[in-house]
Amino acid sequence: MTRATAEAHPAGAGSATAVSIVGSTGSIGTQTLEVVRSDRDRFRVVALGAYSSVQLLGEQATEFRPEYVAIGDERLAAELAALVPAGTEVRAGPGALESLAGVGDVVVNAVVGFAGLPVTVTALATGRRLALANKESLIAGAPVVQAARAARGAEIVPVDSEHCAIHQCLGHRHHRNAANSSAAADFLEPPADVRRLVVTASGGPFRGRSSSELASVTIEDALAHPTWKMGPKISIDSSTLMNKGLEVIEAHELFGVDFDRIEVVVHPQSIVHSMVEFCDGATVAQLSEPDMRLPIGYALAYPERFGSPFGVLDWTCLSRLDFAAPDIATFTCLRLAYEAGRAGGSAPAWLNAANEVAVAAFLGGRISWLAIADVVAETLDGHEETKLLEVGDVLAADAAARQSAGRAVERREH
Ligand SMILES: NC(=O)c1ccc[n+]([C@@H]2O[C@H](COP(=O)([O-])OP(=O)(O)OC[C@H]3O[C@@H](n4cnc5c(N)ncnc54)[C@H](OP(=O)(O)O)[C@@H]3O)[C@@H](O)[C@H]2O)c1
Repeated sequence: MTRATAEAHPAGAGSATAVSIVGSTGSIGTQTLEVVRSDRDRFRVVALGAYSSVQLLGEQATEFRPEYVAIGDERLAAELAALVPAGTEVRAGPGALESLAGVGDVVVNAVVGFAGLPVTVTALATGRRLALANKESLIAGAPVVQAARAARGAEIVPVDSEHCAIHQCLGHRHHRNAANSSAAADFLEPPADVRRLVVTASGGPFRGRSSSELASVTIEDALAHPTWKMGPKISIDSSTLMNKGLEVIEAHELFGVDFDRIEVVVHPQSIVHSMVEFCDGATVAQLSEPDMRLPIGYALAYPERFGSPFGVLDWTCLSRLDFAAPDIATFTCLRLAYEAGRAGGSAPAWLNAANEVAVAAFLGGRISWLAIADVVAETLDGHEETKLLEVGDVLAADAAARQSAGRAVERREH
């Protein structure tokens, strides 16, 4: 039922942009469908995929009538087939979600975690625009993803709100060269006139708390993000500031700016989504209400602007914008991410894997919130550098890190 090879590109009918959404049942996936719903003439859904939310996937297929649906859990194939309209091809099992990255004009990678790596690599290798929400694939597999990014026609437009903001602030510096004709068209040289990138952080639900106050926080406390409603994994990452650390590495990989010139600033209102400071002292920022449909619409419509406004500000209600330095003594995950990013090679893959293992253990009630950073730190201490030349190398590094992190979790179980 699986077909991993690329379909003829583009798959769109008429002038509508054909959108393939992998991870369509999650927070980003469902918001992508809201964006599509707001302009059905401009976008049409060509493929939808999820891991196991078969009922919701079936409902989405009934509404959007894609050509393909895919489910990661093979046991749900028959159930899905009974739910989708006639004419929709069902794919299931290993490789099924990855195969969706080979159809359509734009592939939205809305999968959570390292599992998104094959989608990222296939979308780029088959010369598509990748609307990238799944930061973990870029961070863990950077050398391999950067190589795939050099494919003719390949392009990453970030969906993460901070990187979408930077992409907008960079303006023409981001435009691809001569009609997409050259290889490596999307690979950016560090922009010479950029002095630094300033990545904003809400600070998460525990902003201002000390380590002793954080010793007994619950899963519910950690999931209660003050400004964004997101899936559980990124919500926990936001509470530890690991999400911001991952975003620093993501910014480095996307924009080619070195780590000394990427700064994190806490901005609790989540109105300024990030900034670029130029060599003449000017800072350009992107502002809007926190609403992921804006960066999703931006990535789908790029290089044009999307016609349906999301996140519009009411300036009469906006009384203040606060900024402060992050507390890296308490929120050590941010420091660990900078260290892994600077080390490069397979270190970011180890950071990401250790974090995924630790977050799953926390959400499973096995370790405390404070132990998440300890698990990541201990795993990184044991990091063994390996070369990441192809996807298999990244999978091996991820597996080795997961084993090590698993042992670190066991030592800290309640
Ligand atoms: N949510 C946000 O506002 C936001 C903002 C910025 C960036 N991001 C990034 O966007 C990505 C998705 O986040 P999210 O919050 O939307 O996550 P989410 O709500 O947990 O949704 C995750 C999606 O991935 C699918 N999935 C889960 N495990 C999978 C696996 N092993 N293989 C393939 N697919 C799998 C899920 O399918 P099932 O439903 O079937 O499990 C679901 O469709 C993450 O990388 C996150 O960091 C999210």
